[in-house]
Amino acid sequence: MKFDDIKVCAFDAYGTLFDVHAAVGHHRSRLGDKADGVSAMWRTKQLEYTWLRSLMNRYVPFWQITGDALDYAFDAHGVSDQSLRDDLLNAYLQLDCYPEVPEVLAQLKDGGMQTALLSNGSPEMLESAVIGSKLGELLDAVISVHTLGIFKPHPSVYQLAVDQLGVEARQVSFQSSNAWDAAAAATFGFRVAWVNRFNQAEERLPDQPDVQLTTLSELPAVVLS
Ligand code: 2OP
Repeated sequence: MKFDDIKVCAFDAYGTLFDVHAAVGHHRSRLGDKADGVSAMWRTKQLEYTWLRSLMNRYVPFWQITGDALDYAFDAHGVSDQSLRDDLLNAYLQLDCYPEVPEVLAQLKDGGMQTALLSNGSPEMLESAVIGSKLGELLDAVISVHTLGIFKPHPSVYQLAVDQLGVEARQVSFQSSNAWDAAAAATFGFRVAWVNRFNQAEERLPDQPDVQLTTLSELPAVVLS
């Protein structure tokens, strides 16, 4: 599969460029056999709260939601440890990027592509993650939903990228490991590569991504002419 006339590769942040489970991974021993359950519930609740708050018209920054979701996951697993909470949230500000990301971004840039982040993340969270993983030189734009006051998958989020980057939707290749995000971007009109890192089933949503990748390593062959 080849995408023609792509000017921008826009990336979801959490789960796509950055490994959301790396925060718990760095403190696994302190959670013992609860580690995987806490990490999975933390991510699930974080996303649920973005969807619910958008529908309730009660936006707060993603950073607050990330803390609220961790508090829920701690409660549900009978964990009460302020120091660990602080350490996990600090780790979330500097999540490891997946191993193929720097090389792929460099290849895209060398191929003349503009690169961008398009994320629910608060501006400070994204800045910290980009600096922490040394991706600053490889990203032309970092776009947060914060100015909109609503989260993905609202179409205004994807429109924000079109407006800020000055391209048409069909000139954007959007990559996300979150299938719901990939589906919404396809509905909006981007070309879409779903990075199915976790070998998940396809969503039953109005539109499907154009292509399914296992990692981002396959992306340059799809978008570079
Ligand atoms: C994002 O980075 C939450 O993964 C989603 O926008």
